[in-house]
Amino acid sequence: MKGIVLAGGSGTRLYPITLALSKQLVPVYDKPMIYYPVSTLMLAGIRDILIISTPVDLPQIERLLGDGSKWGVRFSYAVQPQPDGLAQAFVIGREFIGDDPVCLILGDNIFYGQGFTGMMLDAVNNADKGLATIFGYPVTDPRRFGVVTLDDGGLPVAIEEKPSEPRSDKAVVGIYFYPNNVVDIAAAIKPSARGEYEITSVNEEYLRRNKLRVKCFGRGFAWLDTGTVDSLIDASNFVEAIERRQGIVISAPEEVAFRRGFISAQELRRLGERLQQTDYGQYLIRLADGKVF
Ligand code: G1P
Repeated sequence: MKGIVLAGGSGTRLYPITLALSKQLVPVYDKPMIYYPVSTLMLAGIRDILIISTPVDLPQIERLLGDGSKWGVRFSYAVQPQPDGLAQAFVIGREFIGDDPVCLILGDNIFYGQGFTGMMLDAVNNADKGLATIFGYPVTDPRRFGVVTLDDGGLPVAIEEKPSEPRSDKAVVGIYFYPNNVVDIAAAIKPSARGEYEITSVNEEYLRRNKLRVKCFGRGFAWLDTGTVDSLIDASNFVEAIERRQGIVISAPEEVAFRRGFISAQELRRLGERLQQTDYGQYLIRLADGKVF
């Protein structure tokens, strides 16, 4: 399975922070925001990752991530000239995707919670069987999101983008797993009333074909927003609280690479040594030395 991180947009709700800096490079506690979605894809076992961003931001992101070899993955890069919608990722990424299934994750979405990896692996299996998988998360104000309504058996009956009268409290989060035919489905959808190629239109098509599956996150699972200054600081505080309490680092791509067997303990140690003046670097060194459990 291939992975795409969509790191576009101009981050206007974070101005002036993002006037000269890509939103996805802004820190969430101790690491750049884009480390979180990249780690998530790697946790799902995905090693071929396309990063899509604006023409101005892409070079900076590439400077941070490089070709991926240090983490045992491959990063490719592509430009989205205009923020015309999430579904464009599959049009821009068509060649990269080739004949494979694909997972799309939004560059500003943070996921944290037990059981998440297993849920993603189920979604990868679904994609191999021709099924699309999206994830629902109960929120207090679903009107801000894509909203999915399920029947008693947990199958989707409706999916709507930012409905003024939501039929459920389940927001559709920013990670989506698709079989390869998403490339053709995305190419065929029409722009919405707000002029965007909506991911919701793609999901509606899978629903129409009876090929859409929904997994729901429960209580205790964290799906964090980073769109505004307040939600950004909330996300930082959340990450800090868990990391300090448990003595771990959340969503370090280096750790995922090591635990997934993409890199050796020796390689991990070298990565840690480069960052050794920080707690982050010291953590990687302890992990490489077998001192993290
Ligand atoms: C997008 C999607 C929406 C989804 C949300 C998740 O919204 O269109 O369906 O619920 O991401 O973050 P946007 O961020 O473009 O408003």
